[in-house]
This record gives sequence, structure tokens and C-alpha cells, in this order.
Amino acid sequence: MIREVIYDYDKQLEYINLSREIMDIRKRGEKPLAFIHTYGCQQNVADGERIKGMLEQMGFDFTDTVDDADFILFNTCAVREHAEDRVFGNVGALKTLKRRHPSILIALCGCMMEQEHIANKIYKSFPFVGLVFGTHAIHKFPDMFYHSITGGKRVFERGNDDLAVHEGIPVKRDGSFKAWLSIMYGCDNFCSYCIVPYTRGRERSRRFEDIVAEAKELVANGYKEITLLGQNVNSYGKGLEEKHTFAELIKEIDNIEGDFLIRFMTSHPKDCSKELIDVIAQSKHISKHLHLPFQSGSDRILKEMNRRYDREKYLDIVNYAKEKIEDVSLTSDIIVGFPGETEEDFEQTISLVKEVGFTSLFTFIYSKRVGTPAAEMEDPTTDEEKSRRFTRLLKVQEEIASQRCASMVDSIQRVLVESMNEKKGMLSGRTSGNIIVEFDGSEDLIGSFANVKITKARNWILQGELAQ
Ligand code: 5AD
Ligand code: SF4
Repeated sequence: MIREVIYDYDKQLEYINLSREIMDIRKRGEKPLAFIHTYGCQQNVADGERIKGMLEQMGFDFTDTVDDADFILFNTCAVREHAEDRVFGNVGALKTLKRRHPSILIALCGCMMEQEHIANKIYKSFPFVGLVFGTHAIHKFPDMFYHSITGGKRVFERGNDDLAVHEGIPVKRDGSFKAWLSIMYGCDNFCSYCIVPYTRGRERSRRFEDIVAEAKELVANGYKEITLLGQNVNSYGKGLEEKHTFAELIKEIDNIEGDFLIRFMTSHPKDCSKELIDVIAQSKHISKHLHLPFQSGSDRILKEMNRRYDREKYLDIVNYAKEKIEDVSLTSDIIVGFPGETEEDFEQTISLVKEVGFTSLFTFIYSKRVGTPAAEMEDPTTDEEKSRRFTRLLKVQEEIASQRCASMVDSIQRVLVESMNEKKGMLSGRTSGNIIVEFDGSEDLIGSFANVKITKARNWILQGELAQ
């Protein structure tokens, strides 16, 4: 199916101007303030940056506290229950603020809002929330905002049947040298535990030329790290009129002149091609890092998860990457306690972790998501047992990560300097493999690359000194 690419942001200009005028009158010429809080993944952070871009056009400045805000927005995540609970807690706490300042607009957006039972709960239990919109409605934010502040009615805009890619939305980036670049939206994989295909809808890719143009602009504006984002970047290009693969896209971006680093996430082992690994191996700018979530080391559980690869196929890609990319850094996501996971299944996960030797892992205890197939599966394992497995896995990984970091002592690493750790009085940055390095140096180095000689390893953090 061809997914439409639409350049329709012009339609919002009228609402941008109208909203600006209304807020100007309300604030008597003072700039209105927006408080935006984003939960969850980088895709959500990128969405948040687009909403901020539109708010900026509407005349807003930004604040870190809810107390002085005219507009409060929680950009929510639905991937695990814990994230949802935090949103309900934080929104509930705004009730008195809204009572004291009735003109504030409180809004919720993001993945949680695409779930009907959640939107219904907000509608019934949180009457002070004036605007709710899902991930598919972001491009018409000015329209929804305008109607929320003028219509005298609550605006609920949901429904994930919009298959279009909307181009031209302004972006206000949080960082001045690190940028997120969405290359595609949605997911078609339907892993049995995951809510994302239901909240972000069908997979659709941005046009090759639009992505490359944005990457060029970022490099020209001095960005040093560009992270290409998609739920499954390896299937980039599906449904585009002009056929392109992810390997072709990243190669084209790698050819841009300049001093910058390209990262990407997330890869799916079923679609991760050897061609991509060859491109990384021969590239000038692509980080020597592969984030390749395997979720479980047990073939039986992988089948139940609907992951469509097995342990052997996973190890095949990993071994190819190790062979081709010198000193490749591998990271992964793992779910512990998927319904029906036995001790033997879990042992398979531990053995895969040991066999691969990951730099770091993102480990999660399975969280039941309403509407997914896994939510209907028998889950006899107790929470205590799942926590025990989780702790065992962390222990195993700690040992592996510290060995890996220790093996880097005496090497020289090219590091993008990110920040000053005020407490330690040290600069902090990341290697190409995404490992944190701390070292002494001047704050002027923040936002640039530095060569650092590694002198010490502490678990998964490296320490070093500036090399000439
Ligand atoms: N429970 C626990 N972890 C989950 N993830 C996705 N859905 C769930 C769930 N229901 C994890 C997967 C995915 C990462 C982004 O979040 O490991 O790769
Ligand atoms: Fe969820 Fe699987 Fe899609 Fe990742 S690939 S977003 S885990 S359904």
C-alpha cells in the first residue's frame, strides 16, 4: 500500500495566527509560557520537539515549572504500565492548579491517548484536561489548540487511521549539537507483547530526498550527532513509490561532507541486512554501534512473541557484525518474564547475553498491555520470580560490561563531548560505541569531538584524559 506524503502544514498558519492573537490579548503582550513533559522513547521526544516548534510559532516561550505555565502538555508513553501510572499521578496533581487558574489549558498527547480505554478514563475522571490528541494528530496541533481555547468544549482528537506522512512541521530541537531525525513512523510487526502498532499505527516512511535534505541542513547548522529514528529502521522504504533501503539511505547521509556522527535506532533482527553492516563497516560517519533488541534467548518464547527470527539467525547477524565492524559495540533490549517463560527459557536468555558480550542492555520486566495478544496468554510465573530473574540478568550483564570496559583501557577513543558533570567537575561524553567517558577539560569542548586516552574503567563508565 502506498502511504501518502502530504505537505499540508500551510493549512495550520491561520490557526497559528489566531492562537497567537488570542494569547497576546490574554497575556497583555507578555509571552505565554508552555510546560511540556515527554515520557518514553526518542520517537516521543522527536514528536515533542515538533509540538514545541509549532508552539514557538504561536508565540510561546517555555518553562520548566507548571506553576507559571499557560499551557501544560504531557506527551505520554504506553509501552509499559509503570509509565502510564506516572502520567495519571502527574495529571491528577494538576487539579488544584487548574482550579486556581482556570484559564490554563491542560493537555495530554502521545501513545497512551491512542488507546480508547485510556482516553475514556481521562474524559470521565479528569474533567480539567481540556485537550487530548493521539500520535496521528500532531500535524494539526495549532487547529486543536485554537479550538480548545475558544470552543468552550473539551477537544478529543484520536484515531490512528491516518496513513499519511505530514511534512513541513517546524521543529524546536532540545539540543544544539545532537539531533533526532525521524525517518519513518509506526510499526507493522505486531510483536505479541507490544502496544506500539496500535498506538502509532501502520509503518510509513518519509521520502528519501526529504530525509537527506534535513540531514544536510543539520550538518550545515553544526549538529555533530544525528540519530535516525524509526520503530524498525531496517524496513525503511516499504510503501514508498521510489524504492530505497535503509542501507542506501544511511550511505547517502554518510556521504554528506562534514564532521559528524550518525546513529540509528531501532533495528529489528529479522530485517537487519548484511548490506547494512557492510555500509557501517565502510562508513566515515556511522557509529560502530548496533542496537539490536533480541528480547529473549529462547526460540520457543521468540515464537510466542511473534519476533520472526530465532537464536541462530540472531547470532548469525551478530557474528557477521563482529567480523566486519572493528570493535563493534552491541546493545539490546530484553524482556524478562514474558507469559509462560520457564526457568529453561530464561537460562537461554542468560546464555545468549554471555555469548554475545553486550556493551549494555535495556532490560524490562514484561508488562501486560490491554489489547495485545500476549495479554490473553497464561502467565503463571509470580512477580517475585520475575524480579529474581531480572536481578540475575543484571548481575551477569554487569560483569560482562565491566570486562568490556576494562579491555578499552589504554585505547584512544573519539568522544563527542556532551556536558559538564558539575559534581565531579569532569566533562562527560560518549564514544562511537555509545559508552560514557569522563575526563578533565574545559567546558569549551562541549559540542565538539575530542580524542580521549582511556585510563580507567568503572563498571560501564570509562575515565580518561585528553590525548593530543
Ligand atoms: N513489557 C515490557 N517491555 C516491553 N517492551 C515493549 N513492550 C513491552 C512490554 N509489554 C520493551 C521491548 C522493546 C522496548 C522498547 O520496550 O524490549 O524493545
Ligand atoms: Fe513493538 Fe515489535 Fe514494533 Fe518494536 S518491532 S515497536 S517491539 S511491535
